[in-house]
Amino acid sequence: MLKYLSLGVLVLQTTSLVLTMRYSRTLKDDGPRYLASSAVVSTEVIKILVCTVLVYIENNFSAQAMKQLLKEEFVNRPRETLKLAIPALIYTLQNNLLYVALSNLDAATYQVTYQLKILTTALFSVSMLGRRLGFYQWLSLLVLMAGVTLVQWPTEPEGDFEQKVLSASAQFVGVMAVLIACLSSGFAGVYFEKILKETKQSVWVRNIQLGLFGFVFATLGMLGYDGQRVAEFGMFQGYNWIACTVVLLQALGGLVIAVVIKYADNILKGFATSLSIIMSMLISYFLLEDLHPSGYRRRLVTCFRGGKRSRAKLYRTSE
Ligand code: C5P
Repeated sequence: MLKYLSLGVLVLQTTSLVLTMRYSRTLKDDGPRYLASSAVVSTEVIKILVCTVLVYIENNFSAQAMKQLLKEEFVNRPRETLKLAIPALIYTLQNNLLYVALSNLDAATYQVTYQLKILTTALFSVSMLGRRLGFYQWLSLLVLMAGVTLVQWPTEPEGDFEQKVLSASAQFVGVMAVLIACLSSGFAGVYFEKILKETKQSVWVRNIQLGLFGFVFATLGMLGYDGQRVAEFGMFQGYNWIACTVVLLQALGGLVIAVVIKYADNILKGFATSLSIIMSMLISYFLLEDLHPSGYRRRLVTCFRGGKRSRAKLYRTSE
């Protein structure tokens, strides 16, 4: 029951996250845009708080029992805790890359390309968990590869020379960000699954460990990359309702993914999120109007309706 419920919530969460994140990165608002690196930090804080409450509930609302358990895990088993630093570092990088990707690609292109993570997840599951895949599973992975190739097939961009160059370079930056995120998603997901299924500890305790490391790495990333801007306008600059929604959806996603990895597995997670492609493609076409389907692939166009604002402007403001 929990398995299918969590997979269903994941489909809805993925669809809404992609679209709100894309919208938040392209929305033209007065004042500075929120910092992606700061959003990653805020997401980690929310996940840690929610997981702490869940551990408290798991321990029958006893603060004493919870304290004892956390002490046992963090102080008495530092090696087990340290193991979580690896996926935390990789996820922090990935979470930042997804903002780069959605600042440069339309929601649908991003979604389809990100499905390559099913392939990387399958390869890591086979090599790290010793999982075996059947003929049809390998075949579906090949079909996926073919689909992604078609989406990336080059077409003649619109506009003058400068716009063409910027459009092509935005596409390149976006696709590279997604490809690296696919590698990291596959590895970190399988690594976390391995830790979770090899030990008996609750998924929420593991998530607190993951979140604490994630918080440290994300904060270092924010100070290193956006330190000057944070010093100037504060960490929460540009946080409007849409930015807060993105942060909350990201946090929800992390929690649901943890449940999915525990009760289902990473490959199933990948195929479940594929369903959200169809949803985001429809919304991208009808509501955001940044998708123009053509015979064999979609064109990347400026996300501003009617293309009034130049791609150059969009690219300059993207990260
Ligand atoms: O796209 P993918 O499925 O790899 O996304 C994983 C996301 O879930 C990342 O944002 C990661 O920070 C989050 N996560 C989490 N807790 C876990 C596993 C993943 O918050 N146990």
